[in-house]
Amino acid sequence: MKIWGNRSAGAWVLFCLFVGGSLPASAAESSLENWIVTQTGRSMDRIYLAISPPDGALGSVMASPSRDLPNYYFHWIRDSALVMREVWAFRALNPTQARKTLIDYALFSRGNQNTDNRSGVAFDGGLGEPKFEMSGAPYDHDWGRPQNDGPALRVLALLGLADDMMMTGQQDFVYKNLYTPEMPARTLIKADLEFVAHHWMDPSFDLWEEVKGDHFYTRIAQWRAMAEGAVFAKKMNDPDAAAFYGQQAGLIMDSLDKFWSSSKNYLLATRNWVGGHDPQEKASLLDISIVLGVLHSGRSGSPFYVDDDRVIATMNELVNAFDYQYAINRDKLNDEGLPMGPAIGRYPEDHYDGETTNGLGNPWFLCTQAMAEYFVRLRGELKAHGQVNVTSISRPFFEALTRQNLSQQRRLVSGDPTFTAVLQALQDRSDAFIRRAKFHTGDGGHQSEQFNRVHGQMQSARDLTWSYASFLSLRRIREKNHD
Ligand code: NOJ
Ligand code: NOJ
Repeated sequence: MKIWGNRSAGAWVLFCLFVGGSLPASAAESSLENWIVTQTGRSMDRIYLAISPPDGALGSVMASPSRDLPNYYFHWIRDSALVMREVWAFRALNPTQARKTLIDYALFSRGNQNTDNRSGVAFDGGLGEPKFEMSGAPYDHDWGRPQNDGPALRVLALLGLADDMMMTGQQDFVYKNLYTPEMPARTLIKADLEFVAHHWMDPSFDLWEEVKGDHFYTRIAQWRAMAEGAVFAKKMNDPDAAAFYGQQAGLIMDSLDKFWSSSKNYLLATRNWVGGHDPQEKASLLDISIVLGVLHSGRSGSPFYVDDDRVIATMNELVNAFDYQYAINRDKLNDEGLPMGPAIGRYPEDHYDGETTNGLGNPWFLCTQAMAEYFVRLRGELKAHGQVNVTSISRPFFEALTRQNLSQQRRLVSGDPTFTAVLQALQDRSDAFIRRAKFHTGDGGHQSEQFNRVHGQMQSARDLTWSYASFLSLRRIREKNHD
């Protein structure tokens, strides 16, 4: 039996991402297609500038070069994992550089694991610490901690490297640094998996670092880490751990069902709110973190993927809420007269403007680009299935998308004109969100964290590394699913 599959297939496809893959759909669209190609290169360049900067430790990743108002010059576990995922996904561009970068990151992360901090001691509760100084020193001030999505996302960022090293004769590095069955766990992936397996049920702070409780975003990341971790543990000759991780994955999946609110008709961001901000600051519990969780950690064919009607209903509710929320969304056409989707933020009641939490929240690039990715991913999924069930939960979305009454149609299938119209509309909507992000992007492709809800200018942390990672993810997914 061949255990270590060949993962390098498709490398050339990735290479084509920089020189432009598909041809523009029409002349009017060529500027969008060109921009996407250019923005891919710029995003990758900026990501590399954020990794191991001159005054940061090797393998650290700055969330942004901004050092005050706000100070984001730290290594966040979440942001860096999402960045490393893209470095690895685009490795075909420069395999040696990508691998070296992930190794540096892995070694820096091992240092983080081995550092006592205010979330707890090394290799234990300390793994929930959300961020470290760029030197690797612990962050010694108050913060919303722990944030337990971090270790799960880090596992997901590194499994590809570990697999690859096992296949290419570098087992020693893996056994020494990434994974051995030995307990207590002192290797990077193993320690993160053990942490997730034993702590997923604990309340922690959400990805926005504001609310302590149980969060859909955190849980789905933990589910995926356990599910992938189980497969990997088996390959690493650690069958008992594999069974245990698999069992935890099942329990986590069951717990995700509880986030559905049938009265609100969407998935709630948080349950069992126990601390942090006042619950009244997010009374709706409606949050883009659901969509981000699905994109970062969902798996095709499993519940809570892009085509799950509960996810569709949530996404639809979010788009409508933000469309209404921000003044800039009244402009629905760009300078060429082409449609722009609504700018998307974190949650409707958000008050964080980059400096204070009593201002007015704004749309974010990474949220708007996530919506573009969501639509094109959903398109790819429906196209691959050749059909879609229209349920009472997802019907309002499909009716608005197609402008048709679908009350008599429970299922749309390939060949049916309405199904074709759905696929086209999803692609068009995705492009409309990309035009929105492009519209607010600065000269030279700069993307900060936010852009102002009234005048549209960039705001908060400049050159947010995660903004660029979200663009690269969108680009990858679009390449597979866009005609
Ligand atoms: C800084 C956090 O990074 C941000 O997400 C949050 O909204 C504010 N602090 C307020 O808690
Ligand atoms: C604030 C965001 O809310 C959080 O998600 C992120 O990790 C940090 N900024 C760093 O970018």
